[in-house]
Amino acid sequence: NKPLITVVGSLNMDLVVKTDIIPVEGETVSGEELHYLAGGKGANQAVAAARLGGQTTMVGAVGSDGFGERLLHSLTESGADASQVRILKDTVTGTASIWLSKGDNRIIVIPGANGQVVPAMMEEADTVKSLTAAAAVLLQLEIPLPAVTRAAQLAAEGSALVVLNPAPAVPGLPQELLRCVDVVTPNRSELAVLTGRDDLRPEDVDAAVAELAASLGAAVVTTLGPEGAVYAAAPGGRVQAGRAGACRAPGYAVSAVDTTGAGDCFNGALAVALARGETLDAAVSFAMGAAALSVTKLGAQTGMPSAREVEAFLAEQKAKAQ
Ligand code: RIB
Ligand code: NA
Repeated sequence: NKPLITVVGSLNMDLVVKTDIIPVEGETVSGEELHYLAGGKGANQAVAAARLGGQTTMVGAVGSDGFGERLLHSLTESGADASQVRILKDTVTGTASIWLSKGDNRIIVIPGANGQVVPAMMEEADTVKSLTAAAAVLLQLEIPLPAVTRAAQLAAEGSALVVLNPAPAVPGLPQELLRCVDVVTPNRSELAVLTGRDDLRPEDVDAAVAELAASLGAAVVTTLGPEGAVYAAAPGGRVQAGRAGACRAPGYAVSAVDTTGAGDCFNGALAVALARGETLDAAVSFAMGAAALSVTKLGAQTGMPSAREVEAFLAEQKAKAQ
């Protein structure tokens, strides 16, 4: 009995340039490698959810080109249903140019077909069904806001748990969207944007997470990479934690090859665990393990682990800590 997970969002072909040197303006440098790898926040989260045991459907759009075909293939290869990814004529598949240097990345996204995702697509019969029948619906902000909002509304009309990964950061999210969400997963800079701050010092993260959870009436989870995660449930919210206020989950130091998609892995894992009915505490710790494993491999989707790999990794870490 796999939980039904529906992911609405972007699909990008990631053009990953590995280089030791980042050129300055006017400079030309030699890099090491160029890889064409499947990516996009939505598709990455769908692949993660599918590999981690969710019966997963992806909703989004690609262009009618070779990149689009490869992205659909990457989804189906991981066991996700790609039949609700629209193939649009007269537009290109989204791309992300990624400069990877010493495990760190810089990304420029060209939305292409992702920018053409509209609310009407959410209202087509098969998609309404996927949104309302799901145990969890996972959303990000790499497709236009009206489509994200419509998906959230339809999901909230059904019984789905609505998880919003507010990435990339968009200031001033509409109330119609925020009202529908059960869980929000900003990273530290997205948390700063959501709470209307210019910057957030590490020591202020716990208070900001608890404050945002209370004001949204939704659970908030902020990942800090190897430093772990900070999370808080909202009183009366659908997702509950073992205790009130901000909680911390440990992170794991692994040797990072490529952090691209680590946040997506975290979100996919969190949605699967919550959809299975786990507490927020258990879901966050499962997702931290999954995200740690994902950074040990090149590429966003290629690095998504299976549930068995995550359980083995967490058991190993536990044994080490004793
Ligand atoms: O979150 C990582 C993703 O963001 C990459 O795969 C890239 O496509 C960008 O959209
Ligand atoms: Na990776």
